[in-house]
Amino acid sequence: MNKIAVLAGDGIGPEVMSQALKILDIIESKSNKKFERTEALIGGIAYDETGTPLPDETIKVCEASQAILFGSVGGPKWEGLAPEKQPERGALLPLRKHFSLFANIRPVKIFPALIESSSLKNNLIDGGLDIIFFRELTSGIYFGQPKMIAPDRKSAVDTMLYTEEEITRIAIKAFEAAKLRSNKVCSVDKANVLMTSVLWREVVSNLHKSKYSSVELTHMFVDNAAMQLVRAPKQFDVILTENLFGDILSDEAAMLTGSLGMLPSASVNEKSFGLYEPIGGSAPDIAGQNLANPIAQILSLALMLRYSFDMNEYANMIEESVSKTLNEGFRTKDIAGQSTDITILGTVEMGDKIAANL
Ligand code: IPM
Ligand code: MG
Repeated sequence: MNKIAVLAGDGIGPEVMSQALKILDIIESKSNKKFERTEALIGGIAYDETGTPLPDETIKVCEASQAILFGSVGGPKWEGLAPEKQPERGALLPLRKHFSLFANIRPVKIFPALIESSSLKNNLIDGGLDIIFFRELTSGIYFGQPKMIAPDRKSAVDTMLYTEEEITRIAIKAFEAAKLRSNKVCSVDKANVLMTSVLWREVVSNLHKSKYSSVELTHMFVDNAAMQLVRAPKQFDVILTENLFGDILSDEAAMLTGSLGMLPSASVNEKSFGLYEPIGGSAPDIAGQNLANPIAQILSLALMLRYSFDMNEYANMIEESVSKTLNEGFRTKDIAGQSTDITILGTVEMGDKIAANL
């Protein structure tokens, strides 16, 4: 029996999660594989009910599982709390660290039906886009110590720290992925300013020379990469980068696909254990109104099947049924664009259509 932890969290998390679980029911019947699902509290709702955003019980549930299907956490209600009680800093980041989920994989794909919703002129993305980010997720400036505001609140410090080992293991993931794609890696850094980036470039280059010389490797400064993503995004295939740069660039790239509500992500460790979550946030402004786009959550489920359960065929099936549903003209509000011959659906109805197309 496969075991997963279901952490729906806050905001739109629970409603989009229900749609993903509906899809999982169908996958169970098609594949004859059962997924035992254990729900646990995370984020603001966990804080409200237990006084902490990441209860020990939740960690235990995750430890007893092979993968975590994650919704989203956070919202204005909890923003004023002490940092360690806040949903993002007190739950999501420690969870990533606890399970050493160092490789954050963010595919950025445009569904042909959604080209109109992209924030770019269509001629820049003709024929679609297919970029995949490998973002380092458990180190860098997110976690380096010291990290503090001085007691007089007149200065503050964050520390950006990387070790050779941390750089190597994420770079290996990127190179391996490139071999199965178009054999190109662009490593993004700020080696003209940051010492961590000088080391990053050195380690990636050495690894390339010794083990992956058949892959085409380029290096790009992060400011240039930010520009190139909106100038000529099709030049990219695999983008390898550190934690903070990956955070920023992946949101930028997401908008090229039209909506944050479309993109899934996988955060995996050395084993096949992973946390699968939409890259958009908890969208408290539209929560509970049947308006949220469930596609990112459903595609996160597909990534879970692919990376943690070796069920690539079923992951493809889910992705195809999403594509088919969009081709049929069904949209949630966030991806409605300007087209006239489309039908706008709520969260549940979109889930139903995708399920029917499976
Ligand atoms: C992401 C998010 C998180 C991050 C936040 C919620 C802490 O923006 O997954 O990209 O910065 O990593
Ligand atoms: Mg982010």
